[in-house]
Amino acid sequence: MTFNPADELAAYLPVRSLIPLIDDVREKVASSKQLPGCITLGIQIEKALRDTPLSILDIQQSLTDPLASSLRRLAAEYPIIESSSAKIADQFSVYREVLPHSDAELIKGHVIYDLYFRVSRFDPFPPGMLVRQIGLTLSVAIDELRRCGLSIDQVGDLLAASSLVVGTLGTSFNDADPSTGLHETVQSPNDVPSSFGSPTEVAFHRWRSGHHVFALISLFCRYFLECGLSAATSEKFDELCLHVDKATATLRGTTAAMWYAADFPAEIYGQEVRPSMESEKTPQGFSGTQNFDYERLKEARDLLHVNLVNILGERLKDWPEDLGESYLEFKEAELEDMENHILIAAKMVGRGASIFSSKNREEELPPPEAAVDMLRRMAEEKFRQLRGLVAR
Ligand code: HEM
Repeated sequence: MTFNPADELAAYLPVRSLIPLIDDVREKVASSKQLPGCITLGIQIEKALRDTPLSILDIQQSLTDPLASSLRRLAAEYPIIESSSAKIADQFSVYREVLPHSDAELIKGHVIYDLYFRVSRFDPFPPGMLVRQIGLTLSVAIDELRRCGLSIDQVGDLLAASSLVVGTLGTSFNDADPSTGLHETVQSPNDVPSSFGSPTEVAFHRWRSGHHVFALISLFCRYFLECGLSAATSEKFDELCLHVDKATATLRGTTAAMWYAADFPAEIYGQEVRPSMESEKTPQGFSGTQNFDYERLKEARDLLHVNLVNILGERLKDWPEDLGESYLEFKEAELEDMENHILIAAKMVGRGASIFSSKNREEELPPPEAAVDMLRRMAEEKFRQLRGLVAR
């Protein structure tokens, strides 16, 4: 595999936590000409979405187009320096370094998943590469918002999470002045990519770029959860609240990214996309459970949960009030994410069997489990945990 910087639909992602990478990234972008504009636009969009009952058209024309252009210019500030013949290190070894005790099959699962979605992993990860990836991945999805059928809430969640991601790169995020920037980011007519291709091409574009957005926002959600864990261990509960709120906003962003990725007809999913996931290399097909970034996010989430329960007890009523409220909102977002996932799977495959369990199945075995039922079992587990927390 070689670098192909022209391929905007390839994603380069880290395998390690964003702590401490974010510090290096902040240093790197301190002199960026584009970042302040992106941050300001992000803040303006969030504010507009919060305060005004805007229509999708308003949001697209006056807000998201300048943000997408600005993000593309941000990406352009950080080109990949390596030549196009530079080799990407063997992906299994990159994963093995960070998962020394994991089963080889599990690692192969991550590699296969990445290969399908054209994700390459680097370790160590150059800070400029993260900025570039954020610019490219978010601008591609934000461009597509004008054409896709997401609800205004989903658009809002995706933009709020994007704004948080970009804002996290700036050291003076909270100082950015929302009154400047919007009109400074002049958009040239050639800046906005036009619609492309057949319905099938659009479907693959959204399926792939949606998974990139999902992965990128998951990385940041994990980062906020890890920051939360360090605040929890030093019992800085106000700081913890802020991190949990950011984790909630990014988690909601991943839910919206999932809807964006799956925003195309079920027929195309069944006839084109699903079969494309069952290649020679993946005779069993594959599942979101092989998604490395989501698995790490879950680990960070569970670690924070266990620590909070150890420090504060099993019932939210015994926690500091603000923290209890923030954490409950996070747990709600988690359950709602699962509920949305069920709806997406139902839209695509109805009561069809999970791609995984339907393969190479002996005839005498009971019928394979429906994908939606697998997801419902996962949702039940989350609901059980939530009920435990709010019990009086
Ligand atoms: C952009 C992100 C995602 C999208 C658009 C998405 C979409 C879907 C769709 C369409 C199905 C039905 C699958 C089929 O053809 O059988 C499904 C099933 C499923 N998804 Fe996801 N998913 C995403 C991420 C994830 C992640 C991160 C997980 C990790 C837990 C996950 C876990 C599952 C499971 C367990 C099933 C049911 C069985 C199966 O593996 O096929 N998904 N998802």
